[in-house]
Amino acid sequence: MIDSTPEWAALIASAEEPPDLRTLFGADPERADRFTLDVDGLTVDLSKNLIEKAVVEQLVALARIADVESRRTAMVGGAHINSTEDRAVLHTALRGQPDDGLVVDGQDISSDVAAVLAHMRDFATRVRSGDWVGHTGARIRHVVNIGIGGSDLGPYMAYRALEAFRHDDIEVSFVSNVDGAHLHQALSGATPDETLFIVASKTFTTLETLTNARSARAWLVDALGAEEAVAKHFVALSTNEEGVAAFGIDTANMFGFWDWVGGRYSVDSAIGLSLMIAIGADGFDELLAGFRSMDDHFVSAPLSANAPVLLALIGIWYRNMLAWPTHAVLPYCQLLDRFPAYLQQLDMESNGKQVRLDGSPVTYETGPIVWGEPGTNGQHAFYQLIHQGTTPVPVDFIAFAHPDFTEPDHHDALMANCFAQAEALAFGKTEGEVRSEGVPDALVAHKVFPGNRPSTTIFAERLTPFVLGQLIALYEHKVFVQGAIWGVNSFDQWGVELGKVLATTILAELDDPALPTNHDSSTTALIERYRNFRKP
Ligand code: F6P
Repeated sequence: MIDSTPEWAALIASAEEPPDLRTLFGADPERADRFTLDVDGLTVDLSKNLIEKAVVEQLVALARIADVESRRTAMVGGAHINSTEDRAVLHTALRGQPDDGLVVDGQDISSDVAAVLAHMRDFATRVRSGDWVGHTGARIRHVVNIGIGGSDLGPYMAYRALEAFRHDDIEVSFVSNVDGAHLHQALSGATPDETLFIVASKTFTTLETLTNARSARAWLVDALGAEEAVAKHFVALSTNEEGVAAFGIDTANMFGFWDWVGGRYSVDSAIGLSLMIAIGADGFDELLAGFRSMDDHFVSAPLSANAPVLLALIGIWYRNMLAWPTHAVLPYCQLLDRFPAYLQQLDMESNGKQVRLDGSPVTYETGPIVWGEPGTNGQHAFYQLIHQGTTPVPVDFIAFAHPDFTEPDHHDALMANCFAQAEALAFGKTEGEVRSEGVPDALVAHKVFPGNRPSTTIFAERLTPFVLGQLIALYEHKVFVQGAIWGVNSFDQWGVELGKVLATTILAELDDPALPTNHDSSTTALIERYRNFRKP
């Protein structure tokens, strides 16, 4: 077990007196350079983390003893590292090259990936050019992606992030919640004969997605007065051909992927079709190239100079040795407003686990609570706690030099705030400094900033499809490394099942005239109250 190794113990001992950023920066004028990595133009400045050479060495030793490198080799080679589902984990193959010739379980998956990409490219290009028309001959101007979790968060986040690269005349809406308000919002004002629905579901059994898809189909058929309209207005993204056919979507208009693509790792699979329609096939290729750039770095850079590995190890240092439970992601970029939500699924569904691969309970903390909002908004809301709260919150700041939609003075203000927050967190303000400003005695304690609060700044020239691909892969691999060290399966999600089963039971009971007897008193009372409220 990882927590009974000498490497773990050494880190626990180091954590008794964590490094101090004021001292470290004071002692080493080269610190920023020493702890900054560049991956094909993506800068990762780790210098404001509570690390120094010895701690990094200890962390790298921990990665070695946890066999991170062989697990990485196993993943990219197609071993069934998702052991509870007996599946390979090959999202890296989604951005491979057709001539990679990766054969897994007897299947040439490089060719499979290339074939689906070609199908997507052809379809997206036809929709964008107006060659693909709806039932009445009208061109498509509105695409509605219906999906949830990994079948929504990735394309939605990326669609928003890449606003500057979108097609001018095609709008994409994303409907995920089974709350009818969500579909209503997407369809109000929509023109049925110009609307294309993309039903995105790996399993094609997800209650929310199928409920929304059925309502969308009814809306369309009702408006266009013909069942046949479905063929021109519905396509599917799925691994479940039978389910797609049973729903009534022509499987010629199905874009497939495979069980070795986890939902939360699927934005660069067929699940990205809505994004490809928005940014074009070439833009999507650029996104894939960005993923590939980070993949290449991840598999080839030494552990001590490997951006995702170091982010992961620093996260372990904070989570397990310093016992800090949360991690904030704060993009100084409005266009990345859904990036924290995307990372919540990526990280928390992957590493929110309580047992190891062999089923034995973990004896240490695993995945942190991931949260965040774009800056500067957060500064006027929750940053108070980050600066002066009782539990430090490690932060990732994400920023870009060139804005897409702003006047230069806006952007300078945005960036100044980003840099200032990282500086304030790291160095704080001492009692002496507060007093020297003439602050009255009674207020001094209130105005002290403890400092030594860690952050990483991830910085690039511009938020392009390439950079977004790099950024996503950076976090994918970070999550992988942490899962490898904790010895958990980062690729299953059994914890979401119980609620789904209970919801199915309760759904049937809501209409049943008899009051259910199989629940606790609170659940039964809630069901009863609901029924009473719903009485005409
Ligand atoms: O319930 C969780 C989950 O299975 C996620 O892992 C997944 O991304 C999401 O639901 C959607 O699943 P599907 O794509 O099969 O509809």
